[in-house]
Amino acid sequence: MNDTKKPLHKLVVFDSGIGGLSVLQELMKLPIKEFVYCADTAHVPYGDKTPDEIISLTMKTLLSVIDPSIDGLVLACHTASSLVYETITQAFPHLPVWNVMEPAARSAAHTSLNKRIGIIGTSATIAHSRHKQTILNIEPDAYIIQQACPDLVPLIEAPQLDIDATKAALHRYITPLLAHSIDTLIIGCTHYELIRNLINPLVGKDIALISTPPLMTALLYPLVENQDIVKPVISIHVTGPQISFLQKLNSVAPAILQK
Ligand code: DGL
Repeated sequence: MNDTKKPLHKLVVFDSGIGGLSVLQELMKLPIKEFVYCADTAHVPYGDKTPDEIISLTMKTLLSVIDPSIDGLVLACHTASSLVYETITQAFPHLPVWNVMEPAARSAAHTSLNKRIGIIGTSATIAHSRHKQTILNIEPDAYIIQQACPDLVPLIEAPQLDIDATKAALHRYITPLLAHSIDTLIIGCTHYELIRNLINPLVGKDIALISTPPLMTALLYPLVENQDIVKPVISIHVTGPQISFLQKLNSVAPAILQK
């Protein structure tokens, strides 16, 4: 992962859709002056696309927002973090880029006591197995069980969350993982952070949930200048209709615009 000593004043936060808002919301606790939330809402979900499609869509979207005024980029998407991180760092060699995959995998490897770890994510993320590989590099004997959850992102992106259908999908995906005696579960998709309240009761207290947003805030904390910023500037760059994105933003993370 890139590192920088240059203070972060203006940060791009990227996701395919609304999932990265869970990360933006947390990053706003840091004294950063300006955030650009960038989402490829015209093409979400990424999780059911081929690696080539995901790489080309991510690059095209980022090329329209990355300019010399940007101090850093957070890939607030596990799918893009798993598949596009290397391409991005090569395309923008001077831009510090942080992905969400590595901190989540590292945290799981260090959190799990019995070294039995579950991972939920999009089909593309699970097929690419970058979280699993990263954990195995740290804990070669770890037992890792992965579960793709293709129905979740479309449910979360829908204008209204269908709570019963979402609960049923979560039950279908998560219950089989519990039979593997995992003590740690990676929430390997930033969209799922937005339905944490539905995941928590299914998983119970004995399983540690690895959540990306606070990990990213802790990672960036040493890089920000100690300064008072009452209200950061937030600009929104989406490839789909702005109005439907703002409506979703208002329903899932209203504090972002109110802060
Ligand atoms: N929020 C994204 C992630 O963390 C991707 C969702 C998608 O577009 O399928 O993987």
